Order: sequence, then structure tokens, then C-alpha cells
Amino acid sequence: MGKLTHRFKEKFAEKRTKFSSTILSMRGAKRVPKQPKSRSVVRAGLRSGESVRVLIPHARVSARLRQLAREIRRDFPKDRLHLIGVLKGCVFFLADLARELGGEVSFDFMAVSSYGKGTASTGEVKLIKDLDVSIEGKTIIVVEDILDTGLTLKYLLRLFEQRKPKDLRVVVLLDKVDRRIVDVRADYIGFTIPNEFVVGYGLDFDERYRNLGDVCVLQFDSRATEKSE
Ligand code: PRP
Repeated sequence: MGKLTHRFKEKFAEKRTKFSSTILSMRGAKRVPKQPKSRSVVRAGLRSGESVRVLIPHARVSARLRQLAREIRRDFPKDRLHLIGVLKGCVFFLADLARELGGEVSFDFMAVSSYGKGTASTGEVKLIKDLDVSIEGKTIIVVEDILDTGLTLKYLLRLFEQRKPKDLRVVVLLDKVDRRIVDVRADYIGFTIPNEFVVGYGLDFDERYRNLGDVCVLQFDSRATEKSE
């Protein structure tokens, strides 16, 4: 006695499901479709003689980026953050970071070119595109994909300091510490990486591979190079 029959249980379950769906639609909630499993490597135009090895999978980049955004927001909880991206490698990093930061965020871009990159002798940096708006009195976060010799960042920081921002900080996704030739540091660092040629997530080789989701090491097949010579 008092036991629900099987049929009654079924009916009861059916009603409860209908009731839940009504509540969901009343609140304007939509059922979220099943998400496809994320792929670790998106193929991006590999040429013969070149191959890529994943160094930092996209999921790890995203997770670290969320932490960086939290660290930055903790330091400036109420400020409007004015992000300055250094083209072109910064584009995905800046776009993803801006969406994680929350609060008031604005951004602007610079373009520079460096001559004799990688050699200690020159280190001349040329301004290709300046900022659109003044940074005076603003909380500035310079967003760089990679810190290598440090020449670009040194040049930019000197330039920005003269423009009297309220605060000036630097966030880099990748820091190749072994390659540094000038004394410059980032305030927030995604990953410290070894001295290897990295591409993907904005970083290029001859303008290619920027569209890889993962940060990868680009490898050259020496036999293919020899054949083509
Ligand atoms: C990269 C990067 C930095 C710079 C760092 O830019 O975005 O701006 O190199 O190197 P450094 O520490 O030796 O000065 P790159 O010149 O590759 O241009 P890109 O962003 O357009 O790819």
C-alpha cells in the first residue's frame, strides 16, 4: 500500500519534465546544444619541409589567460584599462584577454618594425603606426605576444612614459628570457619558453601560421631544405 505503480511513476516523471520545460521557457532560458569536442591542432597551411610541434595547447593558453586577467583586475579593480596592442602578433591575445578582463576596457594599437632583429649590434626600432588617442592620465596595459630581445618593448616603454599615463604595465603571453639583450621586464607573464622558433596564436613565420590555435614550435626538415637548394 502507498506504493506508486510503475505506470503512475512514468506519468509523474512525464509531468515533471513538462513542468521543468515550462519554467525554463518562462525564464527565457534556452537549452544549450552539446558542444563539439575541442581539437588541439587546427591545420594551418603546412608547407613541405616544415612541421609544427605543439608547445602550449590552446586550452592551456585560455586557462592561463583567465588567470592573467584576474591578476590584472586585482591590481586595478576600478580602473578603465586601456590596452595597447603591438601589431600584428598581439591580435588574438589582446582580443581574448579583453573579453576576460571585465569592467571598463578600451584598446588601441601600435605598429613598429625592427631592423637587424636578433643581432645585438643594431636594435633600431621604427614607428610604423602610432596610437589613435592620447594615453595621458590613463591606466595602460601594453599587450605583447612575445618578449624576445626586449628591444621593441624597451623602445615602446620609453615612448609611452613620456606621454604621462597614470599607470603603465606590460603583459606578455610568451617570454623567451634566454634571448634578452636589454634589461626590460613584463609585469604579467603567460609562459616562459625556451629559445625555440614559435608560431601560432598570432605568431608568424613569414606571415604564415598566425591562425594556429596552439602555440607551436616550427621545425624545418633539413633534407627538404638541402633538396630545394
Ligand atoms: C614580435 C613581437 C614583439 C617583438 C618582440 O613582433 O610581437 O613586438 O617581436 O621582439 P624583441 O623583444 O626582440 O624586440 P614581430 O617583429 O615578429 O612582428 P609581428 O608581431 O607583426 O609578427
